[in-house]
Amino acid sequence: MIRKVEESLSGIQDILERHPAKRGSLIPVLQDVQEDFGYLSEEAIEELARLMGISANEIYGVATFYTQFRFSPPGRHTIQSCQGTACHVRGGRMILNELEQRLGITAGQTTADGQFDLERVACLGCCALAPVVAVDGKVHAQMTAKKIPSVLSQYDGKEGMENA
Ligand code: FES
Repeated sequence: MIRKVEESLSGIQDILERHPAKRGSLIPVLQDVQEDFGYLSEEAIEELARLMGISANEIYGVATFYTQFRFSPPGRHTIQSCQGTACHVRGGRMILNELEQRLGITAGQTTADGQFDLERVACLGCCALAPVVAVDGKVHAQMTAKKIPSVLSQYDGKEGMENA
């Protein structure tokens, strides 16, 4: 379960107690912070810097190198647009373009209302259903640009998106 940052910066201390107190532990520590809080907030990084005795800049330097880390709160729903080979040859790029256009973000971003994260991913393991989009892990098969509004409306309740 994701904890709220302001609710418990002491959670950072708990995480540090589970790892050896050395720089080499920074990545597993960051992974645990992200798992507990959903993302690496400025407050969490500053607290980590204070407790680990390294600069916040150094922590950012390490964390920004890895795409697994995020620095803003996750959206309520995660959309994964498959760009693996089977999906790619059946129009996966066009599906991703349509998602980006309708949501007003690019892959790797979160919508301004915090409703959706959009990710491009490699094979989701159901190539026979290509091209696929998964929302919160639920696979939507044989996607077309036309199907996107009805898929999105299942998660945001905005029926009017068909005309967006
Ligand atoms: S390439 Fe998309 S599910 Fe395999």
